[in-house]
Amino acid sequence: MTVARALEPADPVVIEAPNLTIRTLTPDDVTDRFVSWFGQDDIRGALNLPAQNRTKADMIGYVKSFDQSSRLLLGIFDKANGLLVGLFTVHIEPRIGRYLVNTVVGEAAYRTKGLMMEVTLPFREYFFETRGLKVMTATALATNKPIIGYLEKTGWTLNQTLKAHTKSQADGTMIDLHLYSITRDAWQAWKTANPDAVQAMAKGLLRAERPI
Ligand SMILES: CC(C)(COP(=O)(O)OP(=O)(O)OC[C@H]1O[C@@H](n2cnc3c(N)ncnc32)[C@H](O)[C@@H]1OP(=O)(O)O)[C@@H](O)C(=O)NCCC(=O)NCCS
Repeated sequence: MTVARALEPADPVVIEAPNLTIRTLTPDDVTDRFVSWFGQDDIRGALNLPAQNRTKADMIGYVKSFDQSSRLLLGIFDKANGLLVGLFTVHIEPRIGRYLVNTVVGEAAYRTKGLMMEVTLPFREYFFETRGLKVMTATALATNKPIIGYLEKTGWTLNQTLKAHTKSQADGTMIDLHLYSITRDAWQAWKTANPDAVQAMAKGLLRAERPI
């Protein structure tokens, strides 16, 4: 039965894309470079984080706060140099087969280079097929145009907008929050309708100028 797979004890997750590996993040992955992501205005804006400084110890605590069973913290690593370049958080509700995903590309040199397109195919295949989940959900602040662009490009449905829902940590204004979802069936239908995009994703599109 598909739901039972999501309830099994946590094995480390490893998902391979052509140029990138997505895997369970561990406290040993917390570097000063990783900590510095959370001092960037664009990351704070995307995640609506308050402007406090975060230490390495804070971030090790953050990594440890994930049970890596129903609450996963996954790193995206460049295979060419081993660099941690992005994150996924995945909150699984096994009983109803739903998972809530957040993502950020922390390394600025890797943004808008096709990274998210490259990981899309293996990431969704893993959670829909290997884990047997039925629906993926995401929320996006109305100010976060990059993530909205990505969601709209890859088959998601905007189900609802919660008006003036979230207080901006940057300036105190109230921001609309968009609620998106995509079912396993909708993802299959999107792939069938977009064979060229699927082929490009499968080849890998990463065009990053690698910083190390
Ligand atoms: C949003 C994010 C996850 C997208 O990942 P990515 O690897 O950079 O995205 P890709 O290069 O694979 O692009 C996929 C699609 O996402 C959308 N997109 C990505 N970056 C975008 C941007 N800056 N503006 C508008 N749309 C964007 C586009 O639809 C793009 O498809 P296209 O290249 O054919 O136009 C990533 O850029 C990120 O985490 N950025 C930091 C957060 C941020 O800047 N937030 C905005 C401030 S609130």
